[in-house]
Amino acid sequence: MAGNGKRVAVLMGGWSAEREVSLVSGNAVAKALRERGYQVTPVDVGPHVGVALADLQPEVVFNALHGRFGEDGCIQGVLEMMGLPYTHSGVLASALAMDKPSASALFRDVGIRTPEGRIAHRDEVIAGAVMDAPYVVKPTNEGSSVGVVIVMDGDDNPFADGNWEYRDNQVLVERYVPGRELAVAVMNGEALGVAEIKVTGHGFYDYNAKYRPGGSVHEMPAKLSPAARDACLRISEEAHRRLRCRGVTRVDLRYDEQEGEVEGLYVLEINTQPGMTPTSLVPEIAAHKGMNFGALVEWIVEDAGCRR
Ligand SMILES: Nc1ncnc2c1ncn2[C@@H]1O[C@H](COP(=O)(O)OP(=O)(O)O)[C@@H](O)[C@H]1O
Ligand SMILES: [Mg+2]
Repeated sequence: MAGNGKRVAVLMGGWSAEREVSLVSGNAVAKALRERGYQVTPVDVGPHVGVALADLQPEVVFNALHGRFGEDGCIQGVLEMMGLPYTHSGVLASALAMDKPSASALFRDVGIRTPEGRIAHRDEVIAGAVMDAPYVVKPTNEGSSVGVVIVMDGDDNPFADGNWEYRDNQVLVERYVPGRELAVAVMNGEALGVAEIKVTGHGFYDYNAKYRPGGSVHEMPAKLSPAARDACLRISEEAHRRLRCRGVTRVDLRYDEQEGEVEGLYVLEINTQPGMTPTSLVPEIAAHKGMNFGALVEWIVEDAGCRR
């Protein structure tokens, strides 16, 4: 069998806001790898993950973590120090991609369009004086839409009651880009396809719309003009390359067609640890290219590296 008994540790869980999502990704990956003949040990990650890995001495580490410590360069640094080959992006790309203001600044520098925005202090946001509506307030370094608040024209200030659970002083405030929600999977530097996300209920693509069954549907491939589709693919490959990402990533975009067929495309972020459940976007886009979930996780494991 393909895996040939290779010993793989699948890192999952952790203690970020996206723990539950990571457990779903990790268990799906572990199952698929076992079916392909790998010898899999799931590791629910805690602060002493290095000790667990030193005991296990896996041949490859599959990183199925999302969010802080798992997606931001921290665990990547531990694995680099231990000399263990691991999947997905390295220390620098992970840290840059996770810090949205850093990634946006780099994208803008190289001509990749991102929504205008700036870092603001939470007190400014609470006072409601941060930008003309519509605008988006988001944590600088979370994922899964955790902590994202959209303020539309005419809305009452949603922060006025002082009960905003988000505690960091620094937040990112961005101009709201109306229109469509797109995602591109990039593998080994090549964009595989564009999916469109349609939220079924009210509101935006928040945590519930992402993970509640029926909260959103994907249209694969997205219905786009050839020029818009090509631009999406090219921009996403450029984002992946410029941040020096590795393996598989997912680029999230907004598309305001009123603004222009190509000019209306804005990169929101690049995810270096994209969701890996069988119904996640990257597996769906890969499947459309003829690569099923098992083949995708096998490719990711075989692409693992360290100190490169
Ligand atoms: N500037 C923006 N304009 C319109 N919608 C946005 C904007 N920024 C974020 N959103 C919405 O919030 C979601 C989450 O934002 P994103 O930047 O992708 O962060 P994350 O997915 O890491 O939480 C997006 O998928 C989109 O629906
Ligand atoms: Mg996103």
